[in-house]
Amino acid sequence: MMKNQSQWKTSTGFILASAGSAIGLGAMWKFPYMAGVYGGGAFLLLFLIFTLLVGLPLLIMEFTVGKMGRTYTTKIYEKLTARKWLNIIGWNGNLAVFILFAFYSVIGGWIIIYLFKVLMQLVTFNDSALSKINFDQIITNPWLTIVGQGIFILLTMIIVMLGVEQGLEKASKFMMPLLFICLIIIVIKSLSLDGAMAGVRYILEPRLDDISVKGILFALGQSFFTLSLGTTGMITYASYASKEMTIKTSAISIVIMNILVSVLAGLAIFPAISAFGYKPTEGPGLLFKVLPSVFEQMSFGTLSYFVFLILFLFAALTSSISLLELNVSNFTKNDNTKRKKVAVIGSILVFLLSIPATLSFGSLSHIQFGVGSIFDNMDFLVSNILMPLGALGTTLVVGHLLKIEELKAHFGRDKFKLFIPWYLLIKFVLPVVIVVIFIVQFI
Ligand code: PFF
Repeated sequence: MMKNQSQWKTSTGFILASAGSAIGLGAMWKFPYMAGVYGGGAFLLLFLIFTLLVGLPLLIMEFTVGKMGRTYTTKIYEKLTARKWLNIIGWNGNLAVFILFAFYSVIGGWIIIYLFKVLMQLVTFNDSALSKINFDQIITNPWLTIVGQGIFILLTMIIVMLGVEQGLEKASKFMMPLLFICLIIIVIKSLSLDGAMAGVRYILEPRLDDISVKGILFALGQSFFTLSLGTTGMITYASYASKEMTIKTSAISIVIMNILVSVLAGLAIFPAISAFGYKPTEGPGLLFKVLPSVFEQMSFGTLSYFVFLILFLFAALTSSISLLELNVSNFTKNDNTKRKKVAVIGSILVFLLSIPATLSFGSLSHIQFGVGSIFDNMDFLVSNILMPLGALGTTLVVGHLLKIEELKAHFGRDKFKLFIPWYLLIKFVLPVVIVVIFIVQFI
C-alpha cells in the first residue's frame, strides 16, 4: 500500500472496483421499479438512449479527469484548473453520496432482513413459505429496518476501514460472474411461467405513447444512478488506478455490464409480475415482493433464494463501499492514517440520516411533499439534481478549461477516432442536454 494514496495493484482491480460501484441496487432494484412505474419498454428505450449517449461519454470523462488529476475530488478541480472555487463540484459529489448512502442503506437493510428470514426457513426446512414473508410488515417495523440498515452500514464501514485494495478486488472476480449466472437462472424460470409473455412484452416493447416527461427525467436520473455519475465517485476510483488503465475499454465494459444486468433484472421480474398478477407499479418494494414467488416455483427454491440474496448483498456492498470511500478519500485527503476515524464518523452520520428515510415507509409515511415520501425526495434530490449538477460542472471544466492536447493524451490510443466526437459531445452537447432536462423538471 502506498503511504498516502491507495492504489489498485492491477488495472483489472480498477475495472472490478468501478464495475462494482456501478452495478448494484440501481440496476437490480431501482431499474425494474422505475420501469414498472414509467412505462416498461418505453422507459427501457429511454434508459438505453441516455446510458449510451449521455452516460458512456460522461463515464469516460470522469475516468479521464481522475487519471489526469490523481487526487481526491475536493481538490482535483483546483489542481487541474488552478481555480479553487471549482472544488465545489467535488463537495457537491460528497453531499450527493452522503444522502445517497443514507437511502441506499434502507434497501441494503431490507436485503439483510430477507437474508435472515430466508435463513430461518432454511434451517427449519420450511421450503414452501417464501411468499409468506410479508414485505409490508417488514418495512413498517421501525426496529427491524433500523437494525437491518445499521448492519448494512456497519459492513460497509468495516470494508472501507480495511482499505481499498484489500477490500473486494479479489472477491468480485467470482461474485460478479456468479451474480450473472444466478440472474440468468431466475430469468429462465420466470420466462417459463404461465402468462410470462405479457410481462416480456411489457418490458421489451417500447410503446411510444407511454413516454412521459417524468419518464424522460427519471430515465436520465436512472442512467446517472446506475453508472455512479456526477458524484465524482468514479473520478476517485480512476485517481487510484495505475497509469496503464484503459479508460475507454473500462467504461464500455461497465456500461455494457450495467445494461445487461438491468435488462436481466427486468426479464426476471416482469414475466413474474404478469404470471402472478402483481402490479408493475408497486414501487420500491417490487423486487422484494415478486422474487420470492419465482423462487418458490424452483426446486431448492429457498436455498437458491438465499444464494441470490448473498450475491445481491455483495453487489449492493461494492456500491455502498464506493459511496463511503468517496467521503473517506475527501476528508482524509488520501492520508490513510485517518481512514478508520473518518470511516466511523461518516458511517454514524449516514446512519442517523438513514433513519427518517426508513421510517418514511412506516411511521413517517404520512409526510408527503415534492415528489413523494422522505425517501422519494432523497432519491430525487440525489439522482435528479445533485448528480446531474455534478456532471454538468465537470463537463464545463473538461470542455472549457482543460487543454485539449492533455485530454487527448489521457484519453489514450484512439484507433476509432473517437476523441473528437467525444470532446464535442462533452463541450457542447451534453451540458445543453443536462441543462434542458434539468430545467424541464421544474416547469
Ligand atoms: N451505481 C450504484 C448502483 O447502481 O447501485 C449507486 C451509486 C454508487 C451511485 C456510487 C453513485 C455512486 F457514487
